[in-house]
Amino acid sequence: MASLLSAVVLLSCLLSGFAYAVAETDFDFFALALEWPATSCSINSKTCCPYNGCCPGGSPPPGFTIRGLWPDYNDGSYPSCCEGPAYDETKISSLRSAMDKYWTILNCKMTSSCIKKRPVWAHQKHGTCATSVIPDQQEYFLTALQLYLKYNVTDVLVKAGYKPSSKTYPLTGIVSAIESAFNTKPQITCNDKNVYQLRLCFTKEFEVRESCAGESTSCPEYVSLPKFAFRNVTKAAEIDWFSTIKSVVS
Ligand SMILES: *[C@@H]1O[C@H](CO)[C@@H](O)[C@H](O)[C@H]1NC(C)=O
Ligand SMILES: *[C@@H]1O[C@H](CO)[C@@H](O)[C@H](O)[C@H]1NC(C)=O
Repeated sequence: MASLLSAVVLLSCLLSGFAYAVAETDFDFFALALEWPATSCSINSKTCCPYNGCCPGGSPPPGFTIRGLWPDYNDGSYPSCCEGPAYDETKISSLRSAMDKYWTILNCKMTSSCIKKRPVWAHQKHGTCATSVIPDQQEYFLTALQLYLKYNVTDVLVKAGYKPSSKTYPLTGIVSAIESAFNTKPQITCNDKNVYQLRLCFTKEFEVRESCAGESTSCPEYVSLPKFAFRNVTKAAEIDWFSTIKSVVS
């Protein structure tokens, strides 16, 4: 099972065009990537896999959820799929309930996210490239959770009056609310006018950085934080993940 999963992650990495290799040079900083579930769900969830938090039966996330903790380079690129210890589910059993709540799966399109194994993806694709700073797998997930709890972006936005609604808000207002709370400039991406992802960046000592890398944003001047609602879609379209993978690997 474990080796099948590693094979799958390796495969996903290869399919997405990354070589499975030791990173040439060590990375420069960490990005804690968050996502806004209402936007993710409107983009990704045409179908429901069993663990899709977008669908009835999932647990509705209260605000931003964790997408990943990513080692990045200063030039805006990032290492991925590095050689490292294979993912071991038993190592994170003590974190399981926190992860289910805050690291919710919101995408059924990506096969690796469809079997409650998003952590595998997060670890094998990104986490294995962070081993110079976080060699241990449990520590990797714990670090992401701790940063997420310490830097509660949702809380800052709610207190500054940016509540989930159909209203639009000035992007500069959202950015400066977070900047003054945490002393770091967030990097925000949008889908149309809806806030989609938000990154906070940290040094390898986990101090906040002034900003992430690159200033580009896909957001308009006025953005929205849409309210979360379950997607009314059928469960029938669940991907037959294992047979797809087996046929490709063998
Ligand atoms: C972050 O803040 C929001 C709004 O105050 C709150 O509902 C949520 O529980 C907090 N999240 C965490 C992980 O503490
Ligand atoms: C989902 O859509 C179906 C058909 O349009 C409808 O009958 C059902 O009540 C909807 N369910 C929810 C939870 O909105």
